[in-house]
Amino acid sequence: MDNKVYIFDTTLRDGEQVPGCQLNTVEKIQVAKQLEALGVDIIEAGFPISSPGDFNSVVEISKAVTWPTICALTRAVEKDIDVAAEALKYAKHKRIHTGIGTSDSHIKYKFNSTREEIIERAVKAVKYARRYVDDVEFYAEDAGRTENEYLARVVEAVIAAGATVVNIPDTTGYCLPSEFGAKIKYLCDNVQNIDKAIISTHCHNDLGMATANTISGLINGARQCEVTINGIGERAGNTSLEEVAMILKCHSHLDLHTNINTQKIYPTSRMVSSLMNMPVQPNKAVVGKNAFAHSSGIHQDGVLKNVQTYEIMDPQEVGLDVNSIVLTARSGRAALKHRLHVLGVELEGEKLDKIYEQFLKLADKKKEINDDDLLVLAGADTTMDHHIKLDFLQVTSGVGVRPVASVGLDIAGEKFEAAATGNGPVDAAINALKQIIKRHMILKEFTIQSINKGSDDVAKVHMQVEYENHIYYGFGAGTDIVQASVDAYLDAINKFTKKAVL
Ligand code: KIV
Ligand code: ZN
Repeated sequence: MDNKVYIFDTTLRDGEQVPGCQLNTVEKIQVAKQLEALGVDIIEAGFPISSPGDFNSVVEISKAVTWPTICALTRAVEKDIDVAAEALKYAKHKRIHTGIGTSDSHIKYKFNSTREEIIERAVKAVKYARRYVDDVEFYAEDAGRTENEYLARVVEAVIAAGATVVNIPDTTGYCLPSEFGAKIKYLCDNVQNIDKAIISTHCHNDLGMATANTISGLINGARQCEVTINGIGERAGNTSLEEVAMILKCHSHLDLHTNINTQKIYPTSRMVSSLMNMPVQPNKAVVGKNAFAHSSGIHQDGVLKNVQTYEIMDPQEVGLDVNSIVLTARSGRAALKHRLHVLGVELEGEKLDKIYEQFLKLADKKKEINDDDLLVLAGADTTMDHHIKLDFLQVTSGVGVRPVASVGLDIAGEKFEAAATGNGPVDAAINALKQIIKRHMILKEFTIQSINKGSDDVAKVHMQVEYENHIYYGFGAGTDIVQASVDAYLDAINKFTKKAVL
């Protein structure tokens, strides 16, 4: 059996389904190019029938990316497949990913159907997709909870119909690693035509077993795994690309190889986290801020004597640039451009000038600018088209005084002002905003996160604002946490108000 493991990245499809993490097409192209540089074999670029935005992203990513296969998701529905084929028109290597639920609960409750009918629909969809492309992947949704014997019949039928890859998703993240591995082995041993297709894993992380299940699947014969950067995805997320790549690298005795350039892992992780406004937990394996930080005395002592005592991988292997240049107010445009390039952000001309201007302002407030600050600056660009902008903000707070804020807004060119008090400076500022924007908005979630350390640090603010039973996400960042909070609130408001809002 070939020992190459194909890395199928679904950050831009399954990963992007996370509420509040949606990217625009330009950002998706940026991520896709970074995935190409990282060495992923297949990029799942979207679900074209789901929205014009997704359709367009698949078209543009197909044009922008050269060697990875571009994959588009569909249901086992002819119209979906027609639209996916159209979206993939410009891809140099293309794949349609079609499928249907195969577990008894999906068959009964989702489709009100029978096992035999599901096989028929699956076969029909694969044959239909093969009319457009040579590379068709079939997913048996909820395969993790599908009885093995029936699953083997489905897999055999879709391979006979022309599927080149068969995806066995643990959609609900239910399986134990031993169980999932045994499922893949069962398919390898019992599906007669299994040598005509590649088996893929697609493990969700609901019980924290996504990576373990994926590795178990690979050990037992799967040769493709579906993963996302930082493990992002619906609910508890998907399998992390970085974890799988580093496990296979560290455990070379498994003799399973990927095409991943591991030194690009860290910059890719930072880029996705920054563009999606999705913080990486500090203790996240491989890419968390503390992944290589030794704080206990015993560990520090060991590492100083010999790093191998407590480090199983070299931070530089995953692209963590321990000697990364710190930029300051004296750094020039070229240094900024170079650092952004290392982080996977390509900026030229006016855009570079604009970020450089913002960089100098930040460098005045904060002596040293690091990679996270730069990614925040580069990402901040996305809010420039807001029609409600903050004109001014003045806040007074302290001990023995009631916090008060006055706020000025520019709404599509018209100026508005209001003042209000609150139980703290952020509450006062938001109360003032609400006096101008008189809508029934409820702040459901509010998190402030400092990027590094130090009282001069940049804070990232994430908010969820409920309006008319929908949740809107807002993001703001800056050295002033009250302003960053107001920016986050306005970012959310801009998403549900289009023109005049009063
Ligand atoms: O989790 C899942 O089953 C999926 C399929 C659509 C592949 O994402
Ligand atoms: Zn999934």
